[in-house]
Amino acid sequence: MSYNLDVETLRDSEYGHLNGKTYLDHGGTTLYAKSLVQEFAQDLLSNLYGNPHSASTPSSIAGHRVDAVRIKALRFFGADPEHYDLIFVSNATAAIKLVMECVKDYVAHENKNGKNGFWYGYHKDAHNSVVGVREHATTSRCFINDDEVEDWIRLGTTVHSRDEVGLFAYPGQSNMTGRRLSPSWSARIRESSHGRTFTLLDAAALATTSPLDLSDPAASPDFVSVSFYKIFGFPDVGALIIRKAAGHLLQRRRYFGGGTIDMVIAIGGTSHVKRDSSLHDQLEDGTLPFLSIFALDIAIDVHARLFTSMARISSHTAFLASYLYDNLQHLHHENGSSLLRIYTDDASSYGKPTLQGATIAFNVYTSEGKLIPCQFIEKLADNEGIYIRSGSLCNPVASRHISATHHRT
Ligand SMILES: Cc1ncc(COP(=O)(O)O)c(C=O)c1O
Repeated sequence: MSYNLDVETLRDSEYGHLNGKTYLDHGGTTLYAKSLVQEFAQDLLSNLYGNPHSASTPSSIAGHRVDAVRIKALRFFGADPEHYDLIFVSNATAAIKLVMECVKDYVAHENKNGKNGFWYGYHKDAHNSVVGVREHATTSRCFINDDEVEDWIRLGTTVHSRDEVGLFAYPGQSNMTGRRLSPSWSARIRESSHGRTFTLLDAAALATTSPLDLSDPAASPDFVSVSFYKIFGFPDVGALIIRKAAGHLLQRRRYFGGGTIDMVIAIGGTSHVKRDSSLHDQLEDGTLPFLSIFALDIAIDVHARLFTSMARISSHTAFLASYLYDNLQHLHHENGSSLLRIYTDDASSYGKPTLQGATIAFNVYTSEGKLIPCQFIEKLADNEGIYIRSGSLCNPVASRHISATHHRT
């Protein structure tokens, strides 16, 4: 039976590599379209590109194109290049680590005493890559629900001294349950902390099936991490998007790599002069993955041609997730016991794209109510050509909650 003629046609023309398979790990990485791969191959075969750090004609063509793609990628998120810069990195995790490294060095420079700790807050739905930042903080706090965040913002609950630099990080969407978190926190935190607490939105999961709207710099997070392969399937690069008004926090990084400095003395002294032209010049170490960045250029165009907009993807995937959820939740064994336990967040609701992404987290039980190990279910599905993701999903707090609920059932 055909689901939707347009979708069937698209599958045939662009996703022949999906034939006979059901790929459900879009949150891990999505699928690349055939046109993207073909146009990229054609681009490389018909042009000569050199290392953007060199001065030859092929190199300067490459350098200019990298700059143009940077602006195009910002515009994909509605971000005006006057207010934002975009740093190409290998993935969302690298973007988060870059913020951590810079904040640490900023605080050390500010304190002049080598003390480099900062206050760090993170929401319980955060991915491991966000949680790990706490290892470089002087103090950290895990906010275990939205109310704690709201109270902290509204009542000004003291979590750190007002002159201490703070960083609050949260995911746009939980990679485990798919619930989407409040887009309003960043602006309100900035106001309530007099600008000393900066915000990091981990949009790696959100941006897969939702518009990431950075059109209002006053309302947007200071730093945003994304992985492009989760949006377009290819190329495997990511980005750190920086609100320029918060850019100073990233300008005291001690490490310098090739491409980020104008002059360095290595013999008879240890001074260097950092490039000061732009944030990306200062933070992109070594040769960028420039060919992958050209693939991103093509990926954005192909994506718009095939899917029109992220808003359209968001409403289509919200429909699919809601349909699947409604059907899964009623599955029972013959003796009436539930086959599945689906993990949802009270604050969320399937079918509402502002609250919920297209992810369903569940466990499977026997008719006696015994948990069937998720790896076993994953293997069974895999044998049938159905590709899902199992395990703790790099989401320690949420999956701890799940194992706690297991014991009660
Ligand atoms: C919310 C979230 N943050 C961060 C990551 C890490 O992304 P990457 O492996 O591309 O760095 C993921 C990966 O699934 C994610 O879903």
